[in-house]
Amino acid sequence: MAVSGRKKGPVSPAVAGPVAVYPGSFDPITNGHLDIVKRALAVFPRVVLAVAFNPNKDSALFTAEERVATIREALVEFGDRIEVDTFSGLLVDYARRIEAAVVVRGLRAVSDFEYEFQMTMMNRHLAPAIETVFLMAGAQYFYTSSRLVKEVALFGGDVRAHVPPAVRRRLAAKLGTQTGRGRKRR
Ligand SMILES: Nc1ncnc2c1ncn2[C@@H]1O[C@H](COP(=O)(O)OP(=O)(O)O)[C@@H](O)[C@H]1O
Ligand SMILES: [Mg+2]
Repeated sequence: MAVSGRKKGPVSPAVAGPVAVYPGSFDPITNGHLDIVKRALAVFPRVVLAVAFNPNKDSALFTAEERVATIREALVEFGDRIEVDTFSGLLVDYARRIEAAVVVRGLRAVSDFEYEFQMTMMNRHLAPAIETVFLMAGAQYFYTSSRLVKEVALFGGDVRAHVPPAVRRRLAAKLGTQTGRGRKRR
């Protein structure tokens, strides 16, 4: 069934319902992000994970291409209900380009609120037709963050509870450390 009012865009409307875009740095994707994706898929037929990157000055550990490859590997079980893409510039411009009606963001305990609130209001000002919805990850992921995962992994700490295997492998390769199973004893 065609989605009424949706013109042909890069995301094919195989399943009826609004396309949701889940934007983020995903540097790297964590189990907290993955939990949000799974919850989003329970509400929206299709979720586009959009990796934000700055072509001029990107302080990310992983390149946009590495982040995309990691996300694809971590979400392979969801097939074409998931699309992984990159964007730079304004999120609302990107969302309009792919004809996404909804932006999905995740919230942890209290730490995310202020920033997310500001950004949502700005996006609403720029693009009133695009709605932002917030999902909360499971309580076990309230303290999971890409930043902490990188810090812990850098010093050889065990990040297995926080990231999928695809990320653990790439972290170890990138940082030259063992981050969990197979860690060498000294
Ligand atoms: N553990 C988590 N639980 C719930 N939401 C999360 C978690 N980690 C990140 N998020 C949410 O995922 C989104 C993307 O996060 P992130 O990759 O840090 O990109 P950004 O640079 O846009 O903050 C944000 O809305 C963030 O609040
Ligand atoms: Mg963040």
